[in-house]
Amino acid sequence: MCGIVGYIGPREAYPIIVEGLKRLEYRGYDSAGIALFDGKDLKVSKTKGKVADLETRSEKEITKYGSVGIGHTRWATHGVPNDVNSHPHISNSGELVIIHNGIIENYESLKKELISRGYTFKSDTDTEVLINLIEDVKKQENVKLGKAVQIALNQVVGAYAIAVFDKNKPEEIVIARLGSPLAIGVGEDEFFIASDASPFLEYTKNAIYLEDEEMAIIRFHKGIKIRKIKDDSLVDPYIQKLQINLEQIEKGGFDHFMLKEIHEQPKAITDTYRGRLLRHEAIIKMAGIEDNMKKFLNADRIIIVACGTSWHAGLVAEYIFEDLARVPVEVEYASEFRYRNPIITEKDVLIAISQSGETADTLAAIKLAKSKGAFVFGVCNVVGSSIARETHAGAYTHAGPEIGVASTKAFTTQITVLTLIALRLARAKGTISSSDFRHHLLELEMIPKKVEEALKSDKHIQKISETYKDTSNFLYLGRGYNFPVALEGALKLKEISYIHAEGYPAAEMKHGPIALIDENMPIVVIATKKGHYEKVVSNIQEIKSRKGKIIGIVTEGDVQVKELADHVIEVPETLESLSPLLTTIPLQLLSYHIAVMLGKNVDQPRNLAKSVTVE
Ligand code: M6R
Repeated sequence: MCGIVGYIGPREAYPIIVEGLKRLEYRGYDSAGIALFDGKDLKVSKTKGKVADLETRSEKEITKYGSVGIGHTRWATHGVPNDVNSHPHISNSGELVIIHNGIIENYESLKKELISRGYTFKSDTDTEVLINLIEDVKKQENVKLGKAVQIALNQVVGAYAIAVFDKNKPEEIVIARLGSPLAIGVGEDEFFIASDASPFLEYTKNAIYLEDEEMAIIRFHKGIKIRKIKDDSLVDPYIQKLQINLEQIEKGGFDHFMLKEIHEQPKAITDTYRGRLLRHEAIIKMAGIEDNMKKFLNADRIIIVACGTSWHAGLVAEYIFEDLARVPVEVEYASEFRYRNPIITEKDVLIAISQSGETADTLAAIKLAKSKGAFVFGVCNVVGSSIARETHAGAYTHAGPEIGVASTKAFTTQITVLTLIALRLARAKGTISSSDFRHHLLELEMIPKKVEEALKSDKHIQKISETYKDTSNFLYLGRGYNFPVALEGALKLKEISYIHAEGYPAAEMKHGPIALIDENMPIVVIATKKGHYEKVVSNIQEIKSRKGKIIGIVTEGDVQVKELADHVIEVPETLESLSPLLTTIPLQLLSYHIAVMLGKNVDQPRNLAKSVTVE
């Protein structure tokens, strides 16, 4: 939540910061702002709205020169999104400037204290409190900016990634993190600061990821010093070589990132199982599992924690793990799990699923499980993310960067990794026969081709979308493996088109939701051949007799549902356990087209952010 960019070096900072903010807009887009030192003075421009609005505003407001600067794109927490609450924030003296991602939880008591000492505040933000606290410490203790930041942060409760500079000492930027990501791009005598590496990829592939409770003082011509915020000890900077390219984070000819990412799924799924699924040798090889096989085999149960779409992937995994590997699984919302005093023992394995690897609740659930002695395994997409580092072991999804706020390829690749793990455990436990195991490998290997097939229904789905785009409600129904897909389909529609949608297990319909059904209610029913087909057909009959409009997701060649439904969308046949990888595709396309037709901002839906680093 919130994107941070900074630059210090010989180039003009403005274009680097503005282009960087555009790449980070997925993190929040309520407002945007920039602060530059133009050689003489501090120039600040900020506005409610997007980075494009900032460009228009800064055109009139500031000279865009200067080779030191910081910029911010905001997802509002404290204070409504308006010009005044936008970052950067300046201290009372006008000398210090800050951008911040996170929440200072004790800001009210700090603010009262500062007000009693004569400080005044323009905004409602916790960030303005922090910059004045830093200023106060700097004056009271007569210390340099870095020290003042460190002392102030030791008084703060909450989460932050910050970048601060002093207009009287503009050759230095101070940054710090706790709970929100921060990377430093290391160029030749120049440094970039960003919430992720995307803003500086075209300038350097050398990156340092700050760890929690670390701060860095970045000096032009002099380099970087990293310290622990708490005990002031020096940390050796570890420079990583980044493997991602600029093309991977651009739209590549598609109208939206979401559409690009939907179409990337065949490749993403292949990348996920490449080198792990060795069909000819009839084995699955995953280092994180092999190295910790005993933990998995001795586990009393597996607890899966996640949020949003990742939680839906966890639900699919529950079916696969229990079905194939015969191990009890509990799937928990990370936000509930962390606060409900759960029973966790050393014989539990906790699997945390997260695309971003930064979700605050999931991270907290991991820490809790670790403190109780559980073995914690991460399934993340973002390499080097906080969750990837906090877990004992893990497996990356290798989906490539996902920029669209609505998760698509993250979901299918998470299911792919989890399926590989379930199969590997099933083999080790002997709960799957050798021929069944080989059959699963073969079918899984064929999924990317089948996803390509499923994507061919795009035009047909576009027509269906046209028919239902003005509806206010949708129901999504599925059974077994496809119940979580119904939840995911409803979430996709809600988050990008703002149409109310609910997902239900098909059989639960008659325990309540059936009351909603009339001739105006579209109901998407996942009714693939394998998996309780006849039962789902009965549910469809029940809908039909109440005049609901039925959109059936069916297996190629289906006859029965075709006769009952108003529309059908076909997907290729596969194993029941793998069917979510195919049935998800038309639901992603349906929500995408409806949102586009309604003129919604598909990649940046209102009120959302890609990476939820606040609880
Ligand atoms: O990065 P994570 O997978 O931990 O994110 C979890 C959710 O915030 C995320 O899946 C969210 O629900 C998406 N917007 C769904 O499309």
